[in-house]
Amino acid sequence: MRIDIVTIFPEAFTPLSISMIGRARERGLLDVRLWNLRDFAPDRHRQVDDAPYGGGAGMVMKPEPFFAAVDAIRRESEPSRIILTSPQGRLLTHALAEQLAAEPHLVLLCGHYEGIDERVCRGLATDEISIGDYVLTGGELAAMVIVDAVARFVPGVVGDPASVRADSFAEGLLDHPHYTRPPEFRGMKVPEVLLSGDHEAIRRWRRAQRLRRTLERRPDLLKREALSPEDRRLLDEADLDLA
Ligand code: ADE
Repeated sequence: MRIDIVTIFPEAFTPLSISMIGRARERGLLDVRLWNLRDFAPDRHRQVDDAPYGGGAGMVMKPEPFFAAVDAIRRESEPSRIILTSPQGRLLTHALAEQLAAEPHLVLLCGHYEGIDERVCRGLATDEISIGDYVLTGGELAAMVIVDAVARFVPGVVGDPASVRADSFAEGLLDHPHYTRPPEFRGMKVPEVLLSGDHEAIRRWRRAQRLRRTLERRPDLLKREALSPEDRRLLDEADLDLA
């Protein structure tokens, strides 16, 4: 899969050169290319922002550099989605990341300043995506979050595909607790069942933990209709009520 990122800070993207994403790029599973928005500015001062029409605080990103950068990308390959990072966008979720991972070629446009000229949103971007209900100082971190979340769904990027399937949110449930050696640490013991070797009891315990955590921390994720009879029994046994 190819991902082109258009940004005024290409140097901010070193995290995409390390760990799993770095390895995925080395192995040719992921082709990430960075474009400096200033290279596409219409004037010799390489200015990419200007004062807002109608007045008000801050600067607005000009439309021409974004259109020119995407024209340059199109000369190499036609993108299947052009995504603008913005707090006004729809929220990035597990489901959206999985959907984007099926696309052959994404472009990510990183916003900055007070905002971006609306003609970029209406006439260039196919999607506007937010990574959460808070405002960042720029779209670079949002773009890296999107690349990371999407890349996990690209076959081969995560070593064990079963771990992607079993992760938090894969079934609308949070993850269960994990433990490794030692069996007791600073007075905190590993739950007995995990040491029992009883695979069926471990599976049931993990499922109950996932249901409990989701109910306690993110009840908005739990949909009664999506729960199996076993799930409901596990919740009853743990004496937990769905709202
Ligand atoms: N740019 C600034 N805040 C953002 C957010 N929450 N999501 C995506 N892009 C942003």
